[in-house]
Amino acid sequence: MKNIIVGILTLFIIALMALTAMRGRAYHGGEQGKVIEDIAGRAAKSSQMEPASKDDREIEQDKLKALRDKAGNVGGFKVSQSYKSKCASCHGMNGAGIIGPKLIGLESDDVYKKLLDYKAGRKENLVMKGLLMKLNEADLREFADEIGEFESRAKALQQ
Ligand code: HEC
Repeated sequence: MKNIIVGILTLFIIALMALTAMRGRAYHGGEQGKVIEDIAGRAAKSSQMEPASKDDREIEQDKLKALRDKAGNVGGFKVSQSYKSKCASCHGMNGAGIIGPKLIGLESDDVYKKLLDYKAGRKENLVMKGLLMKLNEADLREFADEIGEFESRAKALQQ
């Protein structure tokens, strides 16, 4: 009788050992060991994805982004999203000019005429022409009207 009980217990213990070995790799820390392995694997992967050196294009993009950030830091002066994304990097967030000339103080009709001239190539500037190629006359009118308001917007801020 004693022998039978010891035999059953032994079998039970062996079965239990087999089960834990299969389920959780108990000898390597079980589930927690797996989690640590996963994290280590992911870290290794992401460090592989980091490029060894930035190519020129990326450096240019970084520079442009820095310039945009700088242009975007004029507090209080509100401009449209399209001016912000298409014009502010060169003309400044408040039209004060960076690479491109100062726009603040220009009359909207004057701006409109100049934009049309650039687009048509009557006034030659590759930068402005390339930029305006995709914009239609209604877009130009909108930009012109907005720029025409820059001076009064700036004055309103000073008060
Ligand atoms: C990549 C830089 C750049 C961007 C972006 C840019 N411009 Fe210009 N812009 C210039 C430069 C450079 C000139 C001067 C060209 C010249 O000498 O004729 C100029 C000239 C102008 C002028 C004429 C100013 C004057 O007093 O004669 C207007 C108006 C103007 N831009 C409006 C815009 C508008 C509106 C946008 C957005 C849709 C825009 N620009 C985007 C570079 C830029």
